[in-house]
Amino acid sequence: SPIKQDLTGQHWVITAGPTMEAIDPVRYISNHSSGKMGYALAKAAIARGAKVTLISGPVQIPSPIGANVIAVKSADEMLTACEQSMSTQADVFIGAAAVADFKMKAASDQKMKKQSDTNEVTLTLVKNPDIIATLAQQYCAKTMVGFAAETQNVIEYAKSKLERKGLDIIVANDVSRTDIGFNQDENQVTVITKDNTWSPDKAAKSELANQLVEFIQQHIKSAP
Ligand code: C5P
Repeated sequence: SPIKQDLTGQHWVITAGPTMEAIDPVRYISNHSSGKMGYALAKAAIARGAKVTLISGPVQIPSPIGANVIAVKSADEMLTACEQSMSTQADVFIGAAAVADFKMKAASDQKMKKQSDTNEVTLTLVKNPDIIATLAQQYCAKTMVGFAAETQNVIEYAKSKLERKGLDIIVANDVSRTDIGFNQDENQVTVITKDNTWSPDKAAKSELANQLVEFIQQHIKSAP
């Protein structure tokens, strides 16, 4: 049967992939996020008729057909792109990106040279902005969906993240399991709201994305 077009007229903003924080012009700090989950969510939302802005860190996977992809590197760039996209009538924000926790306090504008007289180097890092928490404060009327990758006390930590960041829905997964999550094609998650928790079966990220889009659609806040 054809996919229902129940998201027609909606604008969803989705972040995906890692961020890349420059150390100097040739080096960076990043992580192993593949972007697969965020890209699968974008595809699933587009298939149901949504207009999707996909704000993506550097990844190795093709752009979903029909998505407005904004390629960024650093968390600061990702935040700016998100703020610009959210201000033009977004309905849902999904933060599926693995944003680097820290960036260089002052990235070097020249390649850092090896010092022949020392075996140690110290980089001073500072906290990146929390993109989803910043947006949740600014755009509290929108439906805000976050992810929480945990290795222990998964539900408990995710619940406190939901509250601390001011989110409506958080999707928690256990990244200590090697069969799911980072870089895998399958995922098993628990979806948490203020009042409910729901654990769909382990599934391909594409199938899980369809289920998550359905769940989010049912929890969209009505216009203020
Ligand atoms: O890294 P953390 O567990 O706090 O991530 C939880 C959620 O917050 C994810 O949805 C992630 O995309 C988002 N996040 C963010 N900006 C950060 C850190 C995390 O938007 N600096």
